[in-house]
Amino acid sequence: MSTWATRTAPAAPLRRAALLAASVVALFLPAAAGAQIRNSRHDLSSTSTASVKAQSETQICKFCHTPHGAESTRLLWNRGQTTQAAYTWGTPATAAGTPLPSSLMARSKMCLGCHDGSISIGSLRNAGGGPAGTVAITDVAGRVAGGRLVAGTYTVGVGGNMSGSHPVSIPYAGQNGYNGINSAVTGAAVTAGYRTVLTGTTCQNRTGICTNTTGTSGPNGVVIELYQGTGGVGIECNSCHEPHNEYGFQWLLRVDAATSDNLCRSCHTK
Ligand code: HEC
Ligand code: HEC
Ligand code: HEC
Ligand code: HEC
Repeated sequence: MSTWATRTAPAAPLRRAALLAASVVALFLPAAAGAQIRNSRHDLSSTSTASVKAQSETQICKFCHTPHGAESTRLLWNRGQTTQAAYTWGTPATAAGTPLPSSLMARSKMCLGCHDGSISIGSLRNAGGGPAGTVAITDVAGRVAGGRLVAGTYTVGVGGNMSGSHPVSIPYAGQNGYNGINSAVTGAAVTAGYRTVLTGTTCQNRTGICTNTTGTSGPNGVVIELYQGTGGVGIECNSCHEPHNEYGFQWLLRVDAATSDNLCRSCHTK
């Protein structure tokens, strides 16, 4: 490509053929190239191709962020978090003995506000021009009723029940003090069962904390998002998901889980 500019421009039909070839190649590039929130399931604007969307609101970011009147300047969150205060998991601890939390970190509760159906999708801190209000969402039979996600479809943690879900707001293996919890996975079990925690520029994510696996066709931990708590490092919904569809994988995941086991193997050395 870099030599393109120095070459003599080919005759028009040839140039068209080259462009066509380039766009065919683009179709087979990894999904990450050109992936975006537009027309993903998180595009709730009225012009989206997703089935759950607004009746007339055309903005995309607004359903989660606002430049003014946000819940807080941090992330400019345009919503409340879930109204659920306490969580149950059907068991007090993981198989290894790490206690499961009854209170979740804000960064997962931001997702649950929509996904546990406790707050209407269109209920915003700044619905337009400043005041709080509710942007109208079209109801979809069996999926959205009264502007809320209906239990059973795309819902997680309904009524605070996280039973059957992968743990969140817990420390990564071998970490202490995240969300007030110490990991029961210690010593050799950490090394044997889990990828090492990396920090710094190797991590291709926002927090700069990831796991130590690289490669686009292998387990790709460098995009796994781990979070720094007051003590150790922990995992949240966004450790596996990326809400803007940045990577273009099914279910808004950071690493492909539809056609490979790379997501799970980015943390677990199974
Ligand atoms: C469905 C909810 C949702 C929508 C819609 C959304 N975001 Fe976000 N955004 C989030 C969440 C959640 C985070 C925090 C991510 C984290 O903690 O890893 C975030 C973080 C961010 C951040 C800061 C961290 C980063 O990733 O750089 C920016 C900037 C951002 N969003 C911009 C946008 C823009 C621009 C749009 C519209 C094109 C948008 N978002 C639409 C949920 C959303
Ligand atoms: C503004 C409300 C809202 C917020 C906040 C929100 N979501 Fe969603 N999410 C939705 C809606 C609506 C759908 C589509 C539901 C449907 O199609 O039935 C969806 C779909 C999804 C899907 C399925 C994607 C697919 O392609 O199948 C995932 C995964 C998801 N959300 C994860 C998250 C995570 C993780 C967060 C927090 C970072 C989050 N969501 C925050 C509204 C939201
Ligand atoms: C350990 C990784 C991981 C974590 C953590 C995680 N998810 Fe997921 N999530 C997945 C995978 C993988 C799928 C696709 C599952 C499937 O085959 O349906 C998924 C699917 C979903 C879906 C689509 C509907 C469904 O149930 O399949 C939603 C919505 C969702 N996740 C939301 C969340 C929210 C909200 C959180 C935080 C409370 C969260 N996820 C935490 C890995 C994760
Ligand atoms: C971001 C890192 C990360 C990813 C990605 C991840 N896990 Fe986990 N997983 C953990 C941690 C940390 C624990 C808790 C370990 C403990 O303290 O017991 C855990 C626990 C588990 C457990 C044990 C639950 C119990 O109660 O004992 C299973 C099974 C599991 N994960 C499967 C999966 C699967 C399947 C995937 C892919 C869909 C996945 N994990 C993705 C980090 C991750």
